[in-house]
Amino acid sequence: MNEELIKDADAFYRLAEQKAAHYFESLYIDVMKKTYVSTLINDIQSWKHNHIRHYSLSSLFSRRKGKADSKGYHSYIKWLDYTGKLDNYLDRSISYIFMRDLGKTLESPDTKTRVQRVVDNLKNRLTQSIETDQGEKSDMFTMASLYRKAQEDGIESSFVWLLDKLKTVSSNIPEGMDAEHAQRKLIKIIAGVIMHQLEEMGDEVSSKERSHKLDVAIRLGYSYGLTYPFIDDLLDAKVLCPEEEEQYSDLIRTTLITGSVPELEEWTGSNGDLIRYIHSELREAFEYIKGHQGQDTIKSFLQQAYVFFNSQEVDRLKDLSNSNYTNEEIYIPVILKSSSSRLITRSIINTTEDEGFDSRTFYYGIYNQLADDFADMFDDMKDGAVTPYTYFIKYHDKRSDLINPFELYWTVISNLIHRVYNSDSKTCEVILDRAINGLKRFKERVGTEKYKEVMKLFASGNSNFNDLVQNMVRKADDVDFFDKLLRDHMITSLRNERKEQEEFLDTVEILRKDINSILNIPKDEKFSLSIKEPIVGAANYSLEGDGKRLRPIMTWVMGVKEYGLKESSIEPLLRSLEYMHTASLIFDDLPSQDNASTRRGRKTLHQVYNTAVAELTGLFLTQKAIEEQSCLENFDAKTVLKLIKYSAQMTGDMCKGQAIDLDSKGKQLTLQQLNMMCFYKTGKAFEASLIMPAILANAKESEIKALKKFAYHAGIAFQIKDDILDVEGDQSLLGKSPGKDAENNSSTFVTILGLDGARKEMWEHYCLAMEALQEVPLKITFLKHLLNYIVNRDY
Ligand code: IPE
Ligand code: IPE
Ligand code: MG
Ligand code: MG
Ligand code: MG
Repeated sequence: MNEELIKDADAFYRLAEQKAAHYFESLYIDVMKKTYVSTLINDIQSWKHNHIRHYSLSSLFSRRKGKADSKGYHSYIKWLDYTGKLDNYLDRSISYIFMRDLGKTLESPDTKTRVQRVVDNLKNRLTQSIETDQGEKSDMFTMASLYRKAQEDGIESSFVWLLDKLKTVSSNIPEGMDAEHAQRKLIKIIAGVIMHQLEEMGDEVSSKERSHKLDVAIRLGYSYGLTYPFIDDLLDAKVLCPEEEEQYSDLIRTTLITGSVPELEEWTGSNGDLIRYIHSELREAFEYIKGHQGQDTIKSFLQQAYVFFNSQEVDRLKDLSNSNYTNEEIYIPVILKSSSSRLITRSIINTTEDEGFDSRTFYYGIYNQLADDFADMFDDMKDGAVTPYTYFIKYHDKRSDLINPFELYWTVISNLIHRVYNSDSKTCEVILDRAINGLKRFKERVGTEKYKEVMKLFASGNSNFNDLVQNMVRKADDVDFFDKLLRDHMITSLRNERKEQEEFLDTVEILRKDINSILNIPKDEKFSLSIKEPIVGAANYSLEGDGKRLRPIMTWVMGVKEYGLKESSIEPLLRSLEYMHTASLIFDDLPSQDNASTRRGRKTLHQVYNTAVAELTGLFLTQKAIEEQSCLENFDAKTVLKLIKYSAQMTGDMCKGQAIDLDSKGKQLTLQQLNMMCFYKTGKAFEASLIMPAILANAKESEIKALKKFAYHAGIAFQIKDDILDVEGDQSLLGKSPGKDAENNSSTFVTILGLDGARKEMWEHYCLAMEALQEVPLKITFLKHLLNYIVNRDY
């Protein structure tokens, strides 16, 4: 690497270190003089009037009762609203975000107005989502609600792009790291960048420009956010062996020093695949950020990023068994990493310099870091990580010169309130809320006993101050924050979602095997000796291919799980659905239709036999389907007749859909025509899979109606995904050759709307299907995951 560049980078780092040392020095003087004690005692004394209330016995009881279920996200918001606390809650939460993430000062009238606007907006959305009383279904953080929001802002494509990225990231998070936390952090960073962008552009921009800026912010946020799981967390997690770690660190260092990502040379460690993925993804991210920096800002951006990286590295390489670190060695990297990470968040959107922002952010960082490190001290201790707290725990006995990080923490708070934010009362209120809340949360998490031990060690220096603080921790109310609630909610939902999804995939896997085992059609004995008959063999050939069996799987779940029908009693129905579907594929592949040569991972039927046999087999299978339906003996005859009638109509409709499809070659269909065609050729079979078990269970007409609506949108979403996979899919996964639609000049969602347009339309139907699901009175977890599967599948 170029010596000059290394020197430059180092020189810049030294400069940053000096500035941090200067800041540290002033904090050191304060902490020694314990000036924070009297100042904060005063502050807390006046602060507490808004937070300590006297309750009568009965109100205490009802208050407890009300708060008992405060753990749940929705019930908590509801409770806040009900008790009239929501405004205040949102106000302190948003004020805090403006201060921490946006580096604003709450004194400014401008900031006050902005905070109020955001609070009003958020309150609206939150109360709307609780009003409907639908709990999780109306959560503003479900995929469907988020997509709807993205539509309002005209950033659907960016949203879809991001979803895809998040999916890939989480599937590449190695064992030993937490995929949900990685996702959450990334989302948090992206949200931070979006907030900066929103603040930066104000309200005057046109909606087109707004969409564009938001799109860029999302991509920039992702690009920067990626460094959290894939640089710092990865190196912290000890997933890589020491040699790999060094090689990897060098790669990052070289990138930041030279401004370009080096090629990945031979990777000798065992994590080659992971590193190759990360390297290519980070390179793309880096290039994207670089491309959005101006000539004049790129240098300072790289310098800032280098400070961020290097200070983390310095911290990481510390060894808890080394008893000789000075206070400076402990605290200066903390100041550097915590401030540079936030400075970068703003600098990547490439805005004008804002000295106020820079200096506030610089002073603020360590406050946050000390709060985080406090909360994590036990985990850090277990990992042997050096933080101000772990180091103090380990060496406070032997090293009387070590600063108590908890005292430093209060010093920083006092300094922020009175020097950085000029004793602004709102700032004082919000920061103290946050500080007391941090202790309350910690106490709740680790338990009273452990909490007492921690306090004994860190807070015994000043009994007056400490008594007051502990009193507040016990008694103060209204100190909690929305971002914390959101954080917990997000982790719970991501975990829950993942668990449910795994269960869904397990169920699907098991059912697929079960269904595979009942599809075979026995040979007709009459023919075995005297004359050869190809049809049954041909039908079994098609059935034995690697199909997903989605339709009978849906039927099984609806029939057995939702309607409580006996498994054995609906077996014929499962067969009939797969027979009908397989027949439709045989026809679809014929030279007179799509002329395909591969299906379900093998040669198409007409290629193995011939067109005539294929046609006859298709016909044979549709008849077999009816024969099976007529074997539904455990249901009354009228119901079965109703089912057969419905089924025959569906098959007829599918034929019409196919004919429209073939006739539309080269035509510029309208969206409405496309939807109609897909509903007929594909959606109808989806509908049948849900409705047939409902017919057998004599489900209510209203329920059938809701299910049909769901099936309509889910079916079309399925076909759009199929059209997209025809362009982007991988033959070995798909089991059929991609590119057929283009070859046939077919009219599909992709040929008419383009890939991007098709994706949007798929998500539109996804949302409509999810919304339709809210009207279905049954438990809907399976259908929800089915829909997720439909839009996310690779085959
Ligand atoms: C393919 O259906 C035909 C369409 C309706 C797009 P599937 O994708 O369900 O096919 P298999 O049954 O898994 O082979
Ligand atoms: C087929 O649509 C719809 C049917 C019901 C057969 P496609 O022609 O797009 O299905 P694939 O892609 O060949 O499976
Ligand atoms: Mg076709
Ligand atoms: Mg086809
Ligand atoms: Mg297709």
